[in-house]
Amino acid sequence: VQNNKNQTLSVQLKDRSYNIHIACKYPQLEIIDLINKVFIITDHNVENLYLKKFIGEAKNVLGFYSIKAGEQSKSLTQAEDIFSAMIKAGADRKTVVIALGGGVVGDLAGFVAATFMRGVPFYQCPTTLLAMVDSSVGGKVAVNHKLGKNIIGNFYQPKGVYISTDTLKTLPKREFAAGLAEVMKYGIIKDAAFFTWLEENKDKLLNLDPETLSHTINLSAKTKADIVSQDEYEKNGLRALLNLGHTFAHAEETLSGYGKILHGEAVAAGMIAACHVSNILGKMNLEECDRITKLTEYFDLPTKLTQLTTLDHFFKCMEGDKKNQNGKIHYIIPESIGDCNPPMVIDRKIIEEALL
Ligand SMILES: NC(=O)c1ccc[n+]([C@@H]2O[C@H](COP(=O)([O-])OP(=O)(O)OC[C@H]3O[C@@H](n4cnc5c(N)ncnc54)[C@H](O)[C@@H]3O)[C@@H](O)[C@H]2O)c1
Ligand SMILES: [Zn+2]
Repeated sequence: VQNNKNQTLSVQLKDRSYNIHIACKYPQLEIIDLINKVFIITDHNVENLYLKKFIGEAKNVLGFYSIKAGEQSKSLTQAEDIFSAMIKAGADRKTVVIALGGGVVGDLAGFVAATFMRGVPFYQCPTTLLAMVDSSVGGKVAVNHKLGKNIIGNFYQPKGVYISTDTLKTLPKREFAAGLAEVMKYGIIKDAAFFTWLEENKDKLLNLDPETLSHTINLSAKTKADIVSQDEYEKNGLRALLNLGHTFAHAEETLSGYGKILHGEAVAAGMIAACHVSNILGKMNLEECDRITKLTEYFDLPTKLTQLTTLDHFFKCMEGDKKNQNGKIHYIIPESIGDCNPPMVIDRKIIEEALL
């Protein structure tokens, strides 16, 4: 276990490489050290808690825009309002966009940064566990469409990521648990020892023990950074593994109406569905399925998808998934804890058997 001192990780992408800075302080604009004007995008909760402290004495803030918290704000309409605010504030091609908040703020601000005047520099300051271990790293930026999650977007890497773990002290328990779903994902797709470590340290983690938290965030962000460095555009099958549980989760989120079920909650239930599929295919044994279900329950995350009453709708929705090819749904199915298969086509009957 590493200690909780400052850490720097790097995402290696040639001329677009950048660092992930992890510290246990509160986020501060001055540590990003920018000469250009900045435009901050945040949400109401994070604004109330951190924006003033974040700006401090900085003189280079052109303006900020605060969205209503939650998944429903990840929309084109919301992006358009932000563009208006930026234009009115006098933003230009050199203006730096800063995302201060969770994954919703990060994905939306990244989308805005990628498209405003054909792209302006962008920094991520994640304040949720999910954003620290997953969404702030890797450059997937997007807004939702009412017919599908993350359907409008692009790859657009930030210039840097600044993680301040102290912000987790104010994060609601349910949101913290949602982030733990993506943390478990790293163990299941490629690190059996980490999964076992999570099982052994689960109560310390829930109690925000600093060393346990620090190890969890460092290892998760590093796993994500390494995968993105090797497969930035999801071309060689590696990055696709990060979508474990997500084919099911995106349908679950879309059908429940964005925001009712948290992304991490949908991912938790989706990963367990993928494990059941794996078991039916003769891959993952029941004992491992059980370990994953137990840890999920311990973190107070759902183990079952809730939107299966109209199975046809659910499959229709999964057919809209971005991983699909030639109209066929491609699933990510684990082989065992720590080992995962590239996207594969599976007979609908088998999926149904696993879901019901
Ligand atoms: N781009 C990617 O690679 C990627 C990866 C995973 C998830 N995502 C996306 O991330 C989004 C989910 O992100 P999220 O779980 O961070 O949700 P979120 O951004 O909605 O934040 C969760 C809630 O916590 C509040 N909050 C944020 N920081 C806080 C703090 N420090 N203290 C108190 N409250 C705080 C927010 O206001 C919000 O109400 C989804 O849209 C998902 O699709 C993207
Ligand atoms: Zn996710």
